[in-house]
Amino acid sequence: MDEARRWAESANAWQNWAEGMANPADRINAPLLDLAGAKAGQAVLDLAAGVGEPSLSQAHRLRGRGMVVASDLIPAMLTGLARRCMAQPHPPLPVAADMRALPFATAGFDIILCRFGLMFVPDTGAALTEMRRVLRPGGAAALAVWGPRTQNTLFDRLGRRLATDHGPLADRLLAPLFRFADPAELVHAAYKAGFTAVRHQPLCTTVPARLDQPFWRPTLEMAFSPLLAMLSRDELAGLHDQISADFAADADEQRRFPVTLSVHLLRMET
Ligand SMILES: C[S@@+](CC[C@H](N)C(=O)[O-])C[C@H]1O[C@@H](n2cnc3c(N)ncnc32)[C@H](O)[C@@H]1O
Repeated sequence: MDEARRWAESANAWQNWAEGMANPADRINAPLLDLAGAKAGQAVLDLAAGVGEPSLSQAHRLRGRGMVVASDLIPAMLTGLARRCMAQPHPPLPVAADMRALPFATAGFDIILCRFGLMFVPDTGAALTEMRRVLRPGGAAALAVWGPRTQNTLFDRLGRRLATDHGPLADRLLAPLFRFADPAELVHAAYKAGFTAVRHQPLCTTVPARLDQPFWRPTLEMAFSPLLAMLSRDELAGLHDQISADFAADADEQRRFPVTLSVHLLRMET
């Protein structure tokens, strides 16, 4: 499926769940922003910002001492970001753009952030080359990418249920998430695009889940919106029942699902 269409069809779900997912999101944002290390007065660009992760956290950290631009391909994602910013004294500046052709001057940013975005751009080289162009010499890009599907079991279990009952689209929607599960793939692509220093670190956390609650709904709706949109109301209700039954079959009443990702720091040495 075309990525632009996928994300346009997913934007409502991302808007709906943005606030509910803000706390788990911050557990990933914090190490990513620490690694990026933006300082007061610097210009930060968040690419594939979606509804504001991690640009909202970055803007909160800088408190107006610097600039944060939040950019995404899909305007409806940025509408969600704008809604979340209403009470923010120093909101990020939203700019709709494809990260393969950015509407920004060369060397205009000190730091680039990209959380779970690069894997959805088929032409990775073009996106990395644009990142390098808009970074000033000595600047850095901090990227978060998912680890292997088998180590992100909530995605995996939902994907298997959907693939069984509703065909191969589930696998097609999941596959890009894990494109950089082997960190060497991204390291190689970054050097090829001209970054001169790259380091990465694995990050493992867990999502707590109360099995008496539909804790899986945000993941289901944010990752699989285009497939869910094809189901009738009855089919959707049946799917929810089936997923609840799958998880209820687990022995523990309170479970934690592993979440595995890598954060990469790409640098341009002066
Ligand atoms: C998984 S979401 C991540 C959103 C956000 N960074 C987060 O972590 O919550 C992927 C985002 O990438 C965006 N995207 C996909 N292709 C893009 C492209 N070529 N240029 C810019 N953004 C793109 C989508 O619109 C979507 O908002």
